[in-house]
Amino acid sequence: MMKAAIINAYGGSEQLVVAEQAIPHIQQDEVLVENMATSINPIDYKARQGLMQGMFQWQFPVTLGWDIAGRIVAVGQDVTNFKVGDAVFARPDIDPTGRNGSYAEYTVVKADKLAFKPENITFNQAAAVPLAALTALQMLEKLQVKAGHKVLIQAGAGGVGIYAIQLAKLMGTYVATTASQVNHDFVASLGADQVIDYHAYQIQDVLSDYDAVFDMVGDIDNGIHILKDGGHLVTISAQLTAQQQQTPNKTITTGWLDTNGKDLTTLADYITKNQLQIVVDSIYPLTTEGMRAAHQRSETHHARGKIVVEIKKETV
Ligand SMILES: NC(=O)c1ccc[n+]([C@@H]2O[C@H](COP(=O)([O-])OP(=O)(O)OC[C@H]3O[C@@H](n4cnc5c(N)ncnc54)[C@H](OP(=O)(O)O)[C@@H]3O)[C@@H](O)[C@H]2O)c1
Repeated sequence: MMKAAIINAYGGSEQLVVAEQAIPHIQQDEVLVENMATSINPIDYKARQGLMQGMFQWQFPVTLGWDIAGRIVAVGQDVTNFKVGDAVFARPDIDPTGRNGSYAEYTVVKADKLAFKPENITFNQAAAVPLAALTALQMLEKLQVKAGHKVLIQAGAGGVGIYAIQLAKLMGTYVATTASQVNHDFVASLGADQVIDYHAYQIQDVLSDYDAVFDMVGDIDNGIHILKDGGHLVTISAQLTAQQQQTPNKTITTGWLDTNGKDLTTLADYITKNQLQIVVDSIYPLTTEGMRAAHQRSETHHARGKIVVEIKKETV
């Protein structure tokens, strides 16, 4: 048996309870990871509230969580590129049964979703990478961002935003971002060229002729407004109207991350070369109180970087 944070009904953070659960079994193309850490993403509290039922039909108890960092303890017979003892990280597939989340001491992961954990970071830091950084990388690619482009990254201080700013700079772009005043120096330290206090200004008051807008706050019409002809907008947090999707001369789409070990290895290489910083907002333990507090922190919508859950203390 293992310890896992489960929910037995949809609702508030009080639904989260740490309980004994069966250790999941692997198939031939999977590995079993003993998790050292996981992290919180907004999809976790949205799922907990029951807002993802259109996409996932789970049966209770449900184990949430989609970031893992840990060591492999078992490998399926078809797995050739990883072995027992390897330190890895991943954003596993979302399990249709709802049982195989990462708020647990063990999680099953398909081998093609794994990457080796960079040696220069802790497991707590590694758990802060997969879902958010893969999303940032893939959405910038979807936006067809190129050197010299002007890119707006909304919510630069958040989990996805911290990676998007740094990756967009690595791609050679000029980056504008939105943040509360208290985070302006922080996002500038990640590389943002221009910071807009979204409490005081609308983006179209300040920006125009942008090549790309990476939206994660649902500010779609304003995002479309600041795009030049030929520009792209992708949103990861809103449904688009037919009119928005049919905007003349501009490409307006939604995005959803496609987890894979290849892109995660690209991110691991940046981290190994100290080109991609990981920012941890806070660390909570895998206890009932810890998980509830971690979700409450995420639901403030003002985390600075990533919220991490330490499952097992790292010994050096
Ligand atoms: N489709 C996908 O594949 C996918 C993947 C990942 C995430 N998402 C979605 O993307 C969104 C962002 O995720 P996340 O992990 O980055 O969230 P997060 O870490 O919770 O974001 C927190 C940040 O949002 C900023 N913020 C809040 N309201 C804002 C506003 N109106 N304008 C600008 N910034 C604002 C805050 O900045 P200040 O404190 O400076 O105000 C804070 O730093 C969520 O809705 C999530 O569900 C979707």
